[in-house]
Amino acid sequence: MNKKPTKVFVWPFYTRLIHWLIVLSFVLSFVLSFYEHLLNLHVAFGIVFGLMLLYRIVWGFVGPDYAIFSTFKLSFSALVFYFQEKIQNRYRDIPAGHNPASSWYTIIVLGLGSVIAFSGLLLYGVQEANGYLGFLNHLYYNHADGLTFVHTYVSYILVGWSVVHISGVLVEHFYHKTDMLWTMITGYKIAIGENTTPGKKRGLITWSFLLLSVFVFFVSTDGRNNPFVANRFGTINIKKESPIYYEECGACHKAYPAFMLPSSSWERIRSGLDNHFGDKISPDHNDTDHRITTDEQTVIFKYLTQNSAEHSTREISVKVMKSLDGARGRKSITKIKIWKDIHKDIAPYIYKSDQIKDRSNCFACHKHFEYGVLEDVDIQVPTNLTWTKKKKKTKNTNKSSKI
Ligand code: HEC
Ligand code: HEC
Repeated sequence: MNKKPTKVFVWPFYTRLIHWLIVLSFVLSFVLSFYEHLLNLHVAFGIVFGLMLLYRIVWGFVGPDYAIFSTFKLSFSALVFYFQEKIQNRYRDIPAGHNPASSWYTIIVLGLGSVIAFSGLLLYGVQEANGYLGFLNHLYYNHADGLTFVHTYVSYILVGWSVVHISGVLVEHFYHKTDMLWTMITGYKIAIGENTTPGKKRGLITWSFLLLSVFVFFVSTDGRNNPFVANRFGTINIKKESPIYYEECGACHKAYPAFMLPSSSWERIRSGLDNHFGDKISPDHNDTDHRITTDEQTVIFKYLTQNSAEHSTREISVKVMKSLDGARGRKSITKIKIWKDIHKDIAPYIYKSDQIKDRSNCFACHKHFEYGVLEDVDIQVPTNLTWTKKKKKTKNTNKSSKI
């Protein structure tokens, strides 16, 4: 072994490629997580991240010399010694492979990353009811919040942990002058040790993982009908399920899917039909904006209460029920706390545009909502909004004061 520090080939192409793919897939997935409607891409990069981590773990057993776990230095005293030497000796000689700090660093990244990737995969099934794990929604929908917490905060921890890593590299490069910044690009390190040899078999393993990642990536970003991403709930056909509800309640606005409100809300809406958001709906009155007979009302509200939020494990239904916390349902979903929380970033004037008209017009921003679809990829606030001044509504106020 060389006793003097020279340029040693430490990280072969595959190791560097995997390193950067882990970085890239994590960063992209993290950034995309802030864009609800890009969930599919977030998931796709998340899966690539998970696969790359898995590959790195396999690499830790079958990879070339410096990458394998058995060369990691994990004793606590070695770690303390490493930092002591780092502080005392600015121009110390460094070993070619992992030092105690980077050994621990890698193990922790693999641990945190696995938690993130696995909890994300579970969430996709448990909360969103999407993909092959969609069946988990029915069983564990109540645990979605806990999983979200783990998934989110462990991701933030990994971001913080990466900052530690980058700082360490910068200190090595600029303070200790070990040229560390280029190591993961060129593969060479000024250190003490032998050049590494990657070997052909390892290339085969690498390419298999890469091909699998590319395949899974494209499949996850593909349309909603493929089983990797398909929603377990599919679409509902209100027109077929309850023609009367579809016809009568769909006269002024599109019929809202029943799972959006709890049965207590539907009951309140029924008993308040006399003044339904300013309109009068009644069975036999001449002076009515829309007539719905008592029998029809019974059929309609039976359908609505039987399919209400408490009977569904959809993400929004579970959230609505949690948000009510045992209280009686509101007449309108836009009055429910969770709805307000979700939409808090949308400025009120947006809803007043000609294209949207009212915040209750979910259909304007949620494509296919009339089919019960509320997927993140379908969220699209219309662009090029316009506002024409409307004349004051006089119709309803006049009517209610009529004797
Ligand atoms: C005469 C017209 C008319 C008819 C018929 C009608 N609605 Fe409405 N409904 C309205 C108006 C107006 C609003 C207020 C929101 C808006 O402007 O879209 C509203 C809002 C609602 C909302 C609240 C949406 C939200 O913000 O969560 C629900 C739920 C609702 N209607 C259910 C029903 C049901 C159930 C029926 C059938 C029994 C029905 N509507 C029939 C006019 C009507
Ligand atoms: C002006 C457009 C607009 C209208 C109208 C609107 N939404 Fe939304 N909605 C959004 C946007 C944008 C988001 C994403 C918010 C975010 O994540 O920051 C969203 C998010 C949601 C989500 C969460 C989706 C998820 O999976 O995380 C639900 C559920 C939802 N809306 C339901 C409704 C319902 C029900 C109505 C009608 C009562 C409605 N929205 C009306 C724009 C709108």
